Amino acid sequence: MHVQKEIVDLRKKIQHYDFQYYVLAQPEISDYEYDKLYKRLSHLESENPQFITQDSPTQRVSGEPTKEFPSVRHRSPMLSLANTYSEAELIDFDRRIRDILDTDEKYEYVTELKIDGLAISIVYENGLFIRGATRGDGVTGDDVTVNLKTIRSIPLKSYTSANLPEIFEVRGEVYFSTETFNRVNALREESGEPLFANPRNSAAGTLKMQDARIVASRGLSLFCYQMIDLSNPDQVQEHWKNLEQLRKNKFPVNKYTEICGDIEQVLAYCQKWEQKRGSLPYEIDGVVIKINRSDQQRRLGTTAKSPRWAIAYKFKPSSVQTRIEKIVWQVGRTGAVTPVAELQPVLLAGTTVSRATLHNPEEIERKDIREGDWVQIVKGGDIIPKVIEVIREKRDKESVPCIIPEFCHECQTRLRRSAEEAALRCENYYCPAQIMRRIEHFTSRTAMDIEGLGPAIVELLVEKKLISDYGDLYSLLEEQIIPLEGMGALSARNLLSGIEKSKTQTLDRLIFALGIPFIGATAARTLADVYGDLDKLIGADEADLEEIEGIGPKMAQRTIHFFQSDINKEIIEKLRLAGVSFQYIRDGDSIKLAGKIFVLTGTLPSLSRDEAKNRILKNGGKVSSTVSVKTSYLLAGEKAGSKLVKAKKLNITIIDENEFLNLLNDL
Ligand code: IVH
Repeated sequence: MHVQKEIVDLRKKIQHYDFQYYVLAQPEISDYEYDKLYKRLSHLESENPQFITQDSPTQRVSGEPTKEFPSVRHRSPMLSLANTYSEAELIDFDRRIRDILDTDEKYEYVTELKIDGLAISIVYENGLFIRGATRGDGVTGDDVTVNLKTIRSIPLKSYTSANLPEIFEVRGEVYFSTETFNRVNALREESGEPLFANPRNSAAGTLKMQDARIVASRGLSLFCYQMIDLSNPDQVQEHWKNLEQLRKNKFPVNKYTEICGDIEQVLAYCQKWEQKRGSLPYEIDGVVIKINRSDQQRRLGTTAKSPRWAIAYKFKPSSVQTRIEKIVWQVGRTGAVTPVAELQPVLLAGTTVSRATLHNPEEIERKDIREGDWVQIVKGGDIIPKVIEVIREKRDKESVPCIIPEFCHECQTRLRRSAEEAALRCENYYCPAQIMRRIEHFTSRTAMDIEGLGPAIVELLVEKKLISDYGDLYSLLEEQIIPLEGMGALSARNLLSGIEKSKTQTLDRLIFALGIPFIGATAARTLADVYGDLDKLIGADEADLEEIEGIGPKMAQRTIHFFQSDINKEIIEKLRLAGVSFQYIRDGDSIKLAGKIFVLTGTLPSLSRDEAKNRILKNGGKVSSTVSVKTSYLLAGEKAGSKLVKAKKLNITIIDENEFLNLLNDL
């Protein structure tokens, strides 16, 4: 191929993958494959400099700070690292260092795990956390102080007994532990949001969220890997000692950091961790090797992008071969039919893998994936195993192409394959699988959280035709549940009490539980915050919704559509009649007044009517305009009229403002 054409093609490819990765946060290829393309481009450009253009990916540092956060200029640029996948190149790196330093000059390396997250910087002045920022393009980052402060392991004030410099900067890697990452993705899966491909994307996405409460609830972590003394920048320091000092001051520093006297020890460290990476509770994608002494670091200097005194040794993505035993098609709650490969279980990067998603029919056709095929699966920076290729040589002679189903195996409806979505859909709203998934979603831990109502029971209830939507849950009777397989009087009662309890579940969870397409847990919370009442949300129009930050046009449209549907209207009425709370009681707010119905009359001495009403709602109570036998309290102020008379007649408890306030405090 003509070299100029190859350069142009590579640029186009890299630009495409950059967009997928940085803008959409949905990488299409592994870091390993990407790095190969990038290196090839750099190599060709350095040999043919006449073909370098301003817009080449090699000419930009990387990423641009997002608009939403104020920009911060780093006091010294946050460089990235040169990286390699080969031991030979590590030996070259060591040789270069020896060449630059004086003959016989001693030097040591510090070896660290390369955590798969994103780099941040925090400035401390007189021991206080002043400002935290993302790396951004290395020169300017985003001021994410509020979000970083939610990370519990970061000291807001450094420990005082050990003497840290007056002004210093700590740099480190923000990441998700594997467990947290899986939890975040499980939540996204439940709400139909696209999954994060790896811990780095999820950490980056989280750190850039506008709502620090959500950031806090997700549980990010940090490892500090650098301390810069801003008071005495030129003083001779040792990286190792700096880390020790940070550790003493209770900063999170990775415990597997080691000091190595020579490159042999470095290589041994790399080999050890390439093997053991699966045993860690977080993802690492390599090892970072740094010269220990700061005066030597200074003498070695930096190139435009990275220091000459450090290098990253990156692991090849773990990959194994296994066999697809079966391809199954799963119907989701919104009707998407997704192919899943059931694999012969294999060990991969420390975990046993027995399933891999095949995404959509297009993927199957493009790669010609068949049942019985041997496939290469990877789990690099990506936690979800992916089928990267079919091993054609191992294919059975009798093998036949995978048949894309035409009909839903659950309800026999003809499936629709839409061009724009690449997805296969079952459009039968009453498809038993969809009914089941919707109810499962409603009862799930992150939605209404109904104890004792897992998928197995839901299946039984649907099968026995006791329920056909989640609204029916609230009219279930004990005698209907007791005879079910595996149930008894006690479990039936527990189940009913779980259902009863869910009536005072918070509004954000209720909105999420409804299963409106594209409305995940985060959007549901936003809607609950804005409307505070399900009926108000139902009454909103598309333009109202679109104006809300965090609610896009697609979300707005689907929400309107959802509430317009007669089926959904009917289900929501079932919830209302059952007494499910439509008003706002957020997590953390009290539910002291759950089940209590208030009527207000007259003028209260200090609270306005709206204030009183809000307090009742916030505490889980209800407000009604007419006194009846169902009224729990009449909150009466001055000039109370006919309501007071009626309440007295019905023997309703009458309270004044003081008593009302006491009720909130004492109950
Ligand atoms: S040192 C000049 N140490 O890897 C020194 N980086 O490819 C720059 N990373 O941007 C960084 N673990 O996000 C360093 N122990 C570690 C690291 C680490 C992960 C990340 C960091 C950096 C990227 C460079």
